[in-house]
Amino acid sequence: MDLIRRKQRHGPRAVAAGFVAFAAIWLSGCSGEYPQSTLDPASGFSADLADLYGTIFWWAVFVFVVVEALLIYAVIKYRARPGQEGMPKQVHGHTALEIAWTLAPVVILIFIAVPTIQTIFKVDGTPEAGALEIEVIGHQWWWEFRYPEYGIITANELHLPVGRPVAFTMTSADVIHSFWLPRLGGKRDVIQGRTSRLALTPDSVGMFMGQCAEYCGSSHANMRTIAFVDTQEDFDAWVALQQTTPPPVAELEGLVRRGAEVFSGIREPANHSCLVCHRVEGITYGAIGPNLTHLASRTTIAGGILPNTADGLRRWLRDPPGEKPGEMVGRSMPDIDLTEEEIEALVAYLQSLR
Ligand code: CUA
Repeated sequence: MDLIRRKQRHGPRAVAAGFVAFAAIWLSGCSGEYPQSTLDPASGFSADLADLYGTIFWWAVFVFVVVEALLIYAVIKYRARPGQEGMPKQVHGHTALEIAWTLAPVVILIFIAVPTIQTIFKVDGTPEAGALEIEVIGHQWWWEFRYPEYGIITANELHLPVGRPVAFTMTSADVIHSFWLPRLGGKRDVIQGRTSRLALTPDSVGMFMGQCAEYCGSSHANMRTIAFVDTQEDFDAWVALQQTTPPPVAELEGLVRRGAEVFSGIREPANHSCLVCHRVEGITYGAIGPNLTHLASRTTIAGGILPNTADGLRRWLRDPPGEKPGEMVGRSMPDIDLTEEEIEALVAYLQSLR
């Protein structure tokens, strides 16, 4: 009894303290950086989506306020009063009210449907004239990017010139993936045997994170991408670098040469050799895994999950399935039992591929 009384006395204060603590934790979610926020658009495509989101959000706020106000009004006005006897007056059927609450949602839905349908047509992927064409191929679990205009094939990291329209033509080598750069555009499914399109024009220079957005197997979360939106000069420099060919093995020396030999040589079993899957222009011609011709010019490896440093490369080469688990339809990189000596040589060679 005593306990209940004490509880009642402290009740409102405890509730207030609890509310403040909850609000503090909840609002702390509003601080910090959001590299994948769709509400911070960096292209016309994502600005259109953010506008539509805003439109629907404010309609939801309007509906919430009206409904809650009517609810609070009814609760207060029709509450039980001391001395009141029997049931309140019971009302059944009010034609004017029923027409009103049928028509009001119809009008609101029209205000939501019209901008939604307009936006769907606006972002349908029709490329603008002079767009930079990029072919996107989803693989378990990495992205392949081809720039036919420049003869470049790369992986996981895109470079786009600021202000130029981009037209992505997308497909999958295996299961369904979804291409999504939240601040630039998407998400759009990529499906084997079909072509999906995405067109956007990045409007600010910077680094924009992306993530596969369709569950595609155990390492779905390890299928990331980065789009670097460059100034025209930086983009031209990147293109020029990507178009160079690495020197042949015979011109290499020391550990780098040893690494090139491991990379381009047959190991046993033969399907456990780098050259079966990977291409380095002029040296090996595999086409299953990422093209590594200019690997050292990328900031990350392994679908964006590890930094492209000596330590990151060592970690990856020692145990690829440990870093990126899952064996499904695709052929993610197996553990090919490299020795520490081979790993050190490969790291030196891969870091020379600028
Ligand atoms: Cu690819 Cu999820």
